[in-house]
Amino acid sequence: MPSDKKVQGSLNFHKKMAFKICVVAQMDQLSIENIRKDFPILSRKVRNNVPLIYLDNAATTQKPKQVVDAIADYYLRYNANVHRGIHALSEEASEKYEEAHLKVAKFLNAKFQEVIFTKNTTEGLNIVAHGMYDRLERDDEIVVTRMEHHSNIVPFQVLARKTGAKLKFIELDKFETLNLESAEKVITDRTKLVSIPHMSNVLGTINPVKDIVDIAKAHGSLVLLDGAQSVPHLPVDFADLGVDFLAFSGHKMLAPMGIGGLIGKEEVLEDFEPLLYGGEMIKYVDYERATWNDLPWKFEAGTPNVGGGIGLGVAIDYLSNIGMERVHKMERELTKYTMERFSELDFVQIYGPPSEYRGGVVSFNVFNDDGELIHPHDVSTILDEHGIAIRAGHHCAQPLMRAMSIPATNRVSFYIYNNYEEVDKTVEVLKEVKALFS
Ligand code: ALA
Repeated sequence: MPSDKKVQGSLNFHKKMAFKICVVAQMDQLSIENIRKDFPILSRKVRNNVPLIYLDNAATTQKPKQVVDAIADYYLRYNANVHRGIHALSEEASEKYEEAHLKVAKFLNAKFQEVIFTKNTTEGLNIVAHGMYDRLERDDEIVVTRMEHHSNIVPFQVLARKTGAKLKFIELDKFETLNLESAEKVITDRTKLVSIPHMSNVLGTINPVKDIVDIAKAHGSLVLLDGAQSVPHLPVDFADLGVDFLAFSGHKMLAPMGIGGLIGKEEVLEDFEPLLYGGEMIKYVDYERATWNDLPWKFEAGTPNVGGGIGLGVAIDYLSNIGMERVHKMERELTKYTMERFSELDFVQIYGPPSEYRGGVVSFNVFNDDGELIHPHDVSTILDEHGIAIRAGHHCAQPLMRAMSIPATNRVSFYIYNNYEEVDKTVEVLKEVKALFS
C-alpha cells in the first residue's frame, strides 16, 4: 500500500515533470490521431448527431480496419475447417490459425503448446476451475481477492461447494490495492489454487503479481491470473510472472468477440483434465476409451473460431507495432490527466488508487448540491446524449460494490485511440449533470 507521504512525493515529482510529460503527450496526440484513422466507427455521429466519444473500452474495444479486413479475407478467400482436410483451403486456414497461436505465444512470452484459444476470459477461468475438481479434497483452499469480476469468483464458489474446499479472500488496503499481509495470512499449505486479477476492471488497480506468486509458490499452490484487463493494456510476460495460467479476451484488445486465450504452463496442462471432449482434442478413440491430442489441441475440442483467431493475430500485430510499453504509457498519462481534471470537480468522487498504481480505468460517482448520489444510470444517460459512451452499474463486481458500500459507479476506460479532448468534453458534461440534478 502506498503511504500518503509516498503518494504526495510522487505527485510532486509528477508536477516537476509536467513540462516533459506535456511534450511527450503532444507527440502521442499526433500518433493517436493517426491511430484513429484506422477505426471508422470513431468518426460516427450518435444520438443527437453528436460525435461518438467511446470510453467503454474495459467492456470491449473498437476494431481497426486491419482486423476486420483479415477476418473478411478468411471468410471470402480461404474459409475451411482446420486440421481436418487435405485440401488447399484447409491447409491455408490451418496455417493461419496456427500462426495466430504463435503470435500470441510471442506476444506473451509463452510456448506455442501453452497457448489455448478459448472464446473469452470466462471460458479460460472455467477450464482451470474444472481441471481443479480432481485436485481438491475437503478443507483444501481456493484463494481469490475482494476485487474480483464475477467470472473469477462464481466458478470457484461452485468448485468449493462441490468439493468441500473453502473459498478465501485476500483483503484490500485503503487505496483498494491488495493487502500483502492479508495474502500471507490467507494462503496456507492447504491452498491449491490462488486466482487474482492482474488489473481490476472497476478500480484499475494493477496488482503485484510476482509478490502473490512468491507467497503461493512457498505453499505449493497453483496460480491463475485473470488478464482480461491487463493483456490488452500492458506488457505481460507469462514466463517471467511465474503464474501457472493466464486468461484473457481478444475483444478487449481490438480482436473480435468470441476469441480469447488461456495460457498454461506446459507441465501443468499435460496433467490437467480438459473441460470439453469431442473432435480435434483426441489422438486415438475406440468404443471404450480415448487418448488426448498433443497440446494445445487437447483443450480445443470441436470446430474452433478460426476467423476470430486470425483476427486476434492481426490485433496483436497492430498492438505490437505501437509497442505495449507505449500503449501502457499513453493510457497512464491520459488516466493521470483524467484524475486531475475530475479532482477539480468537488462533486465527483473517484474510487481506487492514485494513477501510478492503476491502468486506464477510472470509476467515479457524481453527487448533487445536497451531497446525494446521482445514480450512475442517470449520469451515463446524460453523457450518452452528448455521444459519450461509458459503463455504469456494478461492472460484474457486485461483491466489491457491497464491500465499498456503494450501489454502483460510473466508469471511463481508455484505449489507444482516446485523447485529451474527449476527457475535457466529459468534464464539461459532468458539470451539466450536477447542475441538472441539484
Ligand atoms: N468485464 C467487462 C467489463 O468490465 C465486460 O465491462
